Amino acid sequence: MPDRYAVFGNPISHSQSPRIHALFAAQTAQDMSYAALLVPPDGFAAAMANFVATGARGVNVTVPFKEEAFRLATQLTPRAQAASAVNTLTFSGDVIYGDNTDGAGLVRDLKANLGFDPARKRILLLGAGGAARGVILPLLDEQPARLFIANRTAAKAAQLAAAFQIEGGGFDALAGGQFDLVINATAAGLANAALSLPTFTFAPNCLAYEMLYGRETPFMAQAQASGCRVTDGLGMLVEQAAESFWIWRGVRPQTRPVLATLR
Ligand code: ATR
Repeated sequence: MPDRYAVFGNPISHSQSPRIHALFAAQTAQDMSYAALLVPPDGFAAAMANFVATGARGVNVTVPFKEEAFRLATQLTPRAQAASAVNTLTFSGDVIYGDNTDGAGLVRDLKANLGFDPARKRILLLGAGGAARGVILPLLDEQPARLFIANRTAAKAAQLAAAFQIEGGGFDALAGGQFDLVINATAAGLANAALSLPTFTFAPNCLAYEMLYGRETPFMAQAQASGCRVTDGLGMLVEQAAESFWIWRGVRPQTRPVLATLR
């Protein structure tokens, strides 16, 4: 029997994770299976218990269950604790290890795939929900010159920023600030909505990073019009998967060919 893994979410049919992990497994000759499971909104704990009972080894967790996975894990890594969310569960005896590989995936995509080193850079993080929170600690670990959190609802940005002892506020607080890296962790792109950012927010030679993938969002168009290099979040998706794979299998898959296949 191959070792069993899955991604739990709702919705889940669009998930690329089974394909990515199948490519990783083939590349590294790992005997494993990886499925996608549609979990009802109130059924996460039961679905996890059922999967564990069949001898499963681990689960990736996506929207809307990352906070619940955080609560169900019995041991958490510092980056999962900082994120208050878990995207990678590992089952070992009675222990449920919870980790969060999203921020590491973003940082690795920046450094390894995009040739962008966040060290000493001025970084703007847009959004103050779970997606933003998940990447703050790994970004701070890279020792940027500045990390500013801006959000439509200023109070949420201020609260999140205070938790990490960094700066934060509403979009109006960006006046006069220039950034080398602007990361869109808002859900605005899902609604095809533009963000009310001043154009000078984007420094010359900046990189604009949209965490969504599979579509050109108004944020990407905005950044491009300001002369920015622009990328979507597909690289982050592949890199966070590689980090989960590493946790589970102790093997680091090559991500470039997988990213090329998905593109
Ligand atoms: P996630 O877990 O994906 O981050 P979330 O917790 O619902 O989802 O957060 C969504 C984020 O996108 C929030 O920062 C939200 O801003 P508010 O806090 O003001 O609601 C942001 N967002 C969603 N739609 C937006 C829009 N049209 N314009 C600007 N920000 C938007």
